[in-house]
Amino acid sequence: MDLSKLLEKFKDLFQLEEQPRAFFAPGRINLIGEHTDYNGGHVFPAAISFGTYAIAVPRQDNIIRLYSENFSEKGIIEVSLDDLSYKKEDDWTNFPKGMILYLKEEGFTFPNGFDVLFYGNIPNGAGLSSSASIELVTGVLLENLFRLDIDRIRLVKIGQKVENKYIGVNSGIMDQFAIGMGKQDHAILLDCDTLHYEYAPIKLANHDIIIINTNKRRELADSKYNERRSQCEAALADLQQELDIRSLGELSPEQFEQHRALIKDDTNQQRAKHAVYENARTIEALKRLKAGELTTFGELVNQSHVSLRDDYEVTGMELDTIAETAWQQKGVLGARMTGAGFGGCAIAIVEKTEVENVQKAIEKAYEEKIGYAPTFYVAAIGDGAKEISV
Ligand code: GLA
Repeated sequence: MDLSKLLEKFKDLFQLEEQPRAFFAPGRINLIGEHTDYNGGHVFPAAISFGTYAIAVPRQDNIIRLYSENFSEKGIIEVSLDDLSYKKEDDWTNFPKGMILYLKEEGFTFPNGFDVLFYGNIPNGAGLSSSASIELVTGVLLENLFRLDIDRIRLVKIGQKVENKYIGVNSGIMDQFAIGMGKQDHAILLDCDTLHYEYAPIKLANHDIIIINTNKRRELADSKYNERRSQCEAALADLQQELDIRSLGELSPEQFEQHRALIKDDTNQQRAKHAVYENARTIEALKRLKAGELTTFGELVNQSHVSLRDDYEVTGMELDTIAETAWQQKGVLGARMTGAGFGGCAIAIVEKTEVENVQKAIEKAYEEKIGYAPTFYVAAIGDGAKEISV
């Protein structure tokens, strides 16, 4: 659905004459640096052109009426500014509600409610951060409609808080940061411990980044995600018996090798190994990209997948089939899963002239092994959350 259709739909639905305002927040991919954010390490994500639109007009009373074109069967959901507590029956609207509540708790005031229509074109359940996208599109909507004087990184942190405390997923800061801070044609190297960041132009010469959706439902994803997180916390606690560190992200691979025996449980040792080595690879990847050493950059991307497959164990047959098939194709610089894993999407960096061949090869191998087709998109790297003109 394009913007003009959304505007029409908004006017019809809410029976309003006024010209609404429109906002957009992207989804994200992560080039490298997976499961490092909550370990105080580095990530290297980028905002993509898929995302969530929000069309809104302020009201005179304290009511908020919310509608999503993606969940049209649920109709308009009405809530009051005076009761923004989490309610299961409020369904998807808990994401925007959480943003409003936490902004209120931080002292921002909303004298009146608003009518809002959302529409997202991020493929459903694809692990491209549709939830962070709706959080941040709500954030910029509130910032602009109510003229909030709010720093973007503060908005990003409120988005993460909604995810952690309101929704109950223990995710790190990467998704909200990439979506709030994204910049066209750039990836962001972010130190998740200090929140220092650096934009890096994605100069991939004659290559495209393709996104490959496993189309696998990610049922257990949240509980397994939280389990990985606690395994890393347990490993850190063991290391802290002797080392003065606050996170796994502070360790170099050499330091880790020297002290890994402190981690009592073998599985936790493997998890920590991934976090430490992946962090080192991510910092290295930025250097290689800047130096135009694309082959080495691609190798690091591949190593990331291997580590997520063997040490972190979050890939699964679907993502492995895609990455491993991609590695064998001509014109592929690198390929790996992106995001949390357990299904979701992979990315592959592919020579433009080979994109079609590579897609065909992956599709064939995937269908043979998995029994249904994956979906392909070429990723365009866009800006972070913002108001768009209507
Ligand atoms: C999900 C989380 C992020 C990050 C990735 C894994 O996308 O929301 O915070 O942990 O998984 O890198």
